[in-house]
Amino acid sequence: MAADKPIERVRTVADLRARIGEWRKAGLSVGLVPTMGALHAGHLSLVERSMANTDRTCVTLFVNPTQFGPNEDFSVYPRSEDADAAQLSALGAHLLFAPDTAEMYPEGAVTKVTVPGIGDRLEGAFRPGFFTGVATVVTKLLLQSLPDVAFFGEKDFQQYRVIQRFVADLDIPVRIEACPIVREADGLALSSRNAYLDENERRAAPALFAVLELTSRRIAEGAAAADALEAARHELAAAGFTKVDYVELADAESLEPVSGLDRPARLLAAAWIGKTRLIDNVAVG
Ligand code: PAF
Repeated sequence: MAADKPIERVRTVADLRARIGEWRKAGLSVGLVPTMGALHAGHLSLVERSMANTDRTCVTLFVNPTQFGPNEDFSVYPRSEDADAAQLSALGAHLLFAPDTAEMYPEGAVTKVTVPGIGDRLEGAFRPGFFTGVATVVTKLLLQSLPDVAFFGEKDFQQYRVIQRFVADLDIPVRIEACPIVREADGLALSSRNAYLDENERRAAPALFAVLELTSRRIAEGAAAADALEAARHELAAAGFTKVDYVELADAESLEPVSGLDRPARLLAAAWIGKTRLIDNVAVG
């Protein structure tokens, strides 16, 4: 069998723009898949979606320091560029943009993109500065590449809504598309951070999705949201989660807390299992 053609890698904004400029001149449409690497089947589903819907797919790989808090896992976040590039080559993706920190944040850069309201709730409340880091780097990636469509996973549902918000507010001419969560057979949502789980933690982790599904069903069948959310917190603790940051029923667009199902709603949770923080979410109703 013929070996996969290695994906082209570029490391500078100038080279990224040159390659995308050539595609544009040839009249080709462009999809962008921003990632922090350590690619798993969830990321690859975004790449496949982009390849099915656009002529050329560019994947970005940048472990963005500005979205990690001082006590978070930036220094140990899994990094596997060559293995990531091999997976992308096997899919036939067209370009990997893997800049270093100095390329993304040259000396003297101070400008930040902040998304008040939706960016302050849930993840924003527990990880101060997280969404400013995400919004700043995604704004830069979108402006550097100016794709037709950018693809994000629903696993980070609030991130997807925050990105939609600032893209609309800043008139960035890019369509934002969300792709469904990819799960292990036992329900655990794929995440690069699952690599941190030891054997016992890995066995307990699917309870996050199971509890969200059960809670979603209870609310859809008429249980009071406050009671169902309280029960969910207890059930997560009983399943081995050591700390529950939040289990919230939220408006599916603004992510404001809601207590009923008058409008589309989303159930979102973040909980710790040992030293690993997992997030997940499901639609309700
Ligand atoms: O979801 C991620 O992997 C990151 O938050 C993103 C969107 C690539 C920005 O660094």
